[in-house]
Amino acid sequence: MATHIVNGTVVTAEREFRADVLIEGDKIVAVGENLDVPAGAEQVDATDCYVMPGGIDPHTHMQLPFMGTVASEDFFSGTAAGFAGGNTMIIDFVIPNPQEPLMAAYEKWRGWAEKSAGDYSFHVAVTWWDDSVHADMGKLATERGVNSFKHFMAYKGAIMCDDEVLVNSFTRARELGALCTVHAENGELVFRLQKEIFERGITGPEGHPLSRPPEVEGEAANRAIRIAEVLGVPLYLVHTSCIDALEALTRARLEGQRVFGECLAGHLLIDDSVYRKKDWNEAAHYVMSPPFRSKEHQDALWRALQSGMIQTTATDHCCFCTPQKQMGIDDFRQIPNGTAGVEDRMGVIWHHGVNKGRLTPSEFVAVTSTNAAKIFNIFPRKGTIAAGADADVVVWDPKVSRTISAKTHHQKIDFNIFEGMEVTGVARTTLSRGKVVWHDGKLSAEEGAGRYVDRPCFAPYWSAQKTTNRLAEPTKVERVRPEVEKS
Ligand code: URP
Ligand code: ZN
Ligand code: ZN
Repeated sequence: MATHIVNGTVVTAEREFRADVLIEGDKIVAVGENLDVPAGAEQVDATDCYVMPGGIDPHTHMQLPFMGTVASEDFFSGTAAGFAGGNTMIIDFVIPNPQEPLMAAYEKWRGWAEKSAGDYSFHVAVTWWDDSVHADMGKLATERGVNSFKHFMAYKGAIMCDDEVLVNSFTRARELGALCTVHAENGELVFRLQKEIFERGITGPEGHPLSRPPEVEGEAANRAIRIAEVLGVPLYLVHTSCIDALEALTRARLEGQRVFGECLAGHLLIDDSVYRKKDWNEAAHYVMSPPFRSKEHQDALWRALQSGMIQTTATDHCCFCTPQKQMGIDDFRQIPNGTAGVEDRMGVIWHHGVNKGRLTPSEFVAVTSTNAAKIFNIFPRKGTIAAGADADVVVWDPKVSRTISAKTHHQKIDFNIFEGMEVTGVARTTLSRGKVVWHDGKLSAEEGAGRYVDRPCFAPYWSAQKTTNRLAEPTKVERVRPEVEKS
């Protein structure tokens, strides 16, 4: 079955040009004008629209078991909601409990994800350490297409890594040619601050940001970066939210270190005043980590995105509905951490990025799709419009407006952190591996149609660097030793 996308302007991370796109089966086979189109090809009209690679959200948590509950969005509903917003792939996380074998956790998540409507892959979290973890990292990297390992520096008493685990895991990742990623917050400090704030009688959602100030993120980001520098491994900071972490990232990059940064659509647009809303539910809806920050941090994140200091945008899509949030009604520490966004990331970044002159359409494609594909080594199969690429395409109408609301969204959650925001620029048509899965407001997502995407190690985008491992070529000093009398 062939599909012919006509009359649009193709946008890749490199350029914008007038071209039609021909798809056969699940691949793009030609991009250009006057294409040789087989009879009977389905036509998709892209007049006045941009034709771009489908969004890749490199940070989601579908049906995550977390903080005593399970995220409400499953792999089918979440990938389908992603289609409505112009996404065609997610990279989710396998998060083993401490002492749980990595391979067992990985197989469990693979089972859950079989219902995905769109393509998916997994980062695997290292939450503890022993020889079996070392061995399983090898198996995942060489036999299961996992090229990135995640480390939570927060969530003490649950999935937090201490420095010993970080050092062991980073060292193993270096051998394997895998990328280390970190959730950078100092979990010891968070734990202490949470206790002090709670004991002072602050039990509501406003306690959440107070216990996770920017310094806590900056310290952890810098520590992870320095550990990665000493060991000579590249590093990826997930959900960078504040100036303090950006300073660490900037210093490292200016020193030539291979460090990448991700920011979330929510952190770009929402400030910490949400935690002071009078309605408890409304304030609790925004409890996620790192928390939303004051406005100067948002401005800095936009500048980091514009300058290339941050390369990717994500959502950390992790849905907990109002009754789940109410598990923390008496204690903000029990409010499940997480917010939604997979359906809205492309729209809000287009509107506040491209429409406001902060990003060009090509830069938009880079930060919503191409850069993630390169960093996680699935480029050019994903992340571009070119012959040979998977036919994951979004036809983007830059003129149509919509008002974001939980009443109309497709995400399985009863509120929306962007509620009431009007954005101009919508996905008119989304194609996942050549199939139209969203068109003019109608979803036609098929349960189980998504495929697991293998991601090989040693991504050429970052692994060609000469190692900076300070231990790699130690020099021994040949010296004259004194005669020491031994008794
Ligand atoms: O609050 C968040 N971000 N919840 C999901 C888990 C994580 O830290 O990424
Ligand atoms: Zn996190
Ligand atoms: Zn996350």
